[in-house]
Amino acid sequence: MSQTDERGEAGGEKPWIPHEIASREGQLDPYPFFKEIRDEAPLRYDPRRDTYDVVGYDAVVESITQHERFTRRNTSYINGSLLSTDEPIHSELRGMAQDYFQPGFLKEVYEPKIKARVDELLDRALQGDDHIDFVEEFAKPLPILIIAELLNVPSEKMETFRKWSATLATAPSENSPEAFAALEEKQATAMGELQELFDAEIDRREASPTEDIIMNHIRGERDSELVDRSNVLANLSMLLIAGNVTTTQYLANAVWTFEEEDVIDELQSGEIPLMDALKEVLRYRSPVMPGKRIATSDTEIAGVRIEEGQRVVGWLSAANRDPDVFENPDQFDPFREYTKEPIPFGKGIHYCLGAPLADMEARVFFEKFLDRVDDWEVATDEIDPFVSSEIYGPRRLPIRVVS
Ligand code: HEM
Repeated sequence: MSQTDERGEAGGEKPWIPHEIASREGQLDPYPFFKEIRDEAPLRYDPRRDTYDVVGYDAVVESITQHERFTRRNTSYINGSLLSTDEPIHSELRGMAQDYFQPGFLKEVYEPKIKARVDELLDRALQGDDHIDFVEEFAKPLPILIIAELLNVPSEKMETFRKWSATLATAPSENSPEAFAALEEKQATAMGELQELFDAEIDRREASPTEDIIMNHIRGERDSELVDRSNVLANLSMLLIAGNVTTTQYLANAVWTFEEEDVIDELQSGEIPLMDALKEVLRYRSPVMPGKRIATSDTEIAGVRIEEGQRVVGWLSAANRDPDVFENPDQFDPFREYTKEPIPFGKGIHYCLGAPLADMEARVFFEKFLDRVDDWEVATDEIDPFVSSEIYGPRRLPIRVVS
């Protein structure tokens, strides 16, 4: 019997998320599940999903960086963007955006804007009740405001962007074909609306050119023999949503972890360097869990045979807690010395384009937050996790702030 026949989901969509971690508890703490697999082998085959789950650091790196053997195509709800195309089209699409994500450009043009936005959010949130939902007040609005500015699209649409991002990042309510179909319909509507927005923005610039990232895409399409309008719309949509839920979870995971690990004072005094602590948050609680791929031909990883067309998930969160690479991986240690780099932003041709932006937002936010508040405590005994095949972290995070 072929492995496809064994999956027991005749005609149904196959979830990317393993059944073992699809529950609330599993989403909150997937690490024992990764460990259980890793103790046996760097990867395992899951017949229920007809998918290989890769958990050892080296094997994960192999699966996400060997793009000719493992493609990112057809693994995302947005087809045709830089994230879901192969070379050479991927490089063309990345080239249309990358100047706007260079650290030097971001520092000069965006750091002052990020500072201003953080001040506004802090002024508003800290003047009222000392109980706030960190996710609603800071972690959600900040990335959306900044990416809307960077893409030069109206920030009045913020609430709509937020809904689109959440819809596109979420997992079905249950592992059933009906739940998949319902979610797919919602995601298709969100994608349609997003593309309409960018279509209108392109029309505006064609009538009256403005120098910005959208204009760069219009020129790129004109000069290219490979890229068409559907790629441009997919690329812009991807840029708008890729950094929202991810950066939200980065900020929320940091606030949660800093309190849980009792390091707020040391961060305020500078005894623990902020960027080291943030780097460790990204390793310890990586906001993006999987690197999704499909084998382009019969191949193997760590001696395990994988057939063409089979799905392979390189679990970044598992790699980042591999004990062969990170000593005491389940401990948060901002003074850790690294022999190999953690891979929360992926690796290879699809390495996160927005990593410098996410890091800058987190740095600017915490420089100000640590300065403006004396202390905070997480005001719930039960963290409510984001249930998703992609994202790790709290969906809401009530905190009590002392300022
Ligand atoms: C902490 C926040 C973030 C995390 C953890 C994160 C994580 C990732 C990861 C793991 C990938 C690679 C996926 C793969 O190989 O399958 C990726 C790709 C990408 N990310 Fe991020 N991301 C974050 C923030 C952002 C931001 C702020 C943006 C800005 C728009 C962004 C834009 C992108 C894009 C465009 C790609 C595709 C790159 C390509 O295919 O060449 N990300 N991200």
